[in-house]
Amino acid sequence: MIHQSTDARASRRFLFLDASARPDGNSVRLARLAAESSLPAGAEQRWLRLDDHPLPPFRDLRHTGDGGYPEPAGHGRTLLDATLAATDLVFVAPLYWYSLPTSAKLYLDHWLGWMGVPGLDFLARMGGSTLWGVTALAADDDKAGPLIDSLRLTAEYMEMRWGGVLLGNGSRPGEVLDDERAVVAAKSFFAG
Ligand SMILES: Cc1cc2nc3c(=O)[nH]c(=O)nc-3n(C[C@H](O)[C@H](O)[C@H](O)COP(=O)(O)O)c2cc1C
Repeated sequence: MIHQSTDARASRRFLFLDASARPDGNSVRLARLAAESSLPAGAEQRWLRLDDHPLPPFRDLRHTGDGGYPEPAGHGRTLLDATLAATDLVFVAPLYWYSLPTSAKLYLDHWLGWMGVPGLDFLARMGGSTLWGVTALAADDDKAGPLIDSLRLTAEYMEMRWGGVLLGNGSRPGEVLDDERAVVAAKSFFAG
C-alpha cells in the first residue's frame, strides 16, 4: 500500500505554459514561487514559453472534406506531446485586454484541430487532468473574470478538473512579488 501511494504522488506531471509576451515577467515569477512552495512531493515540472514555440494560424477545417486534421508537426507536435504527457496543465498567462494573451488563445484554438486528428483521442485523453491558471494583472482582481471564465469553461468542456486561478497584481516585472496577498496564496496554491 505504501508503495502504491508513493507512485501516485510521483506520477503528477505539471506543464507550465508561459503565455506572456515578455520573458521573466510577473506571471512566471508568481508561478515559480507557487511551484517552489506548493507542488506535491515528487511532482515533475516542465516549463515552456509559448512564444518560443510559435504555432501557425489556426484553420477551421471541421466542415471541409472529411473534417479530419493532419498530425501536427514542429512546434505543434512539441506542444501536443507536452500537453498529453501532463497530468496538470498550468496557464501562466498575464491578463491582456481582460482575457488570455494571443499565444494562449491560439494554443487553445489548436486543441480543436488536435481533437480532429484521427486516432489521437485528444479530448478523451485530456479528461481527468487538471487545468490551472496563474495570472498577473495591473488592475483590480475583479477585472479578470473573462480570463478565469475562459479557462474554467474550457476545463468543463474538456472534462478536466478545475484547479483555479492564482491572481497577482503588478505592472513592471517583479512587482507581483510585492503583492502580499498573492505571495501568501502562491505558497499553498498547488497544494489546495
Ligand atoms: C497587451 C497588453 C494588454 C494588457 N491588458 C490588461 C488588462 O486588460 N487589464 C490589466 O489589469 N492589465 C493589463 N495589462 C497589464 C499586464 O497584465 C501586467 O503588466 C502584467 O503584470 C503582465 O504580466 P507579465 O509580466 O507576466 O507579462 C496588459 C498588458 C499588455 C502588454
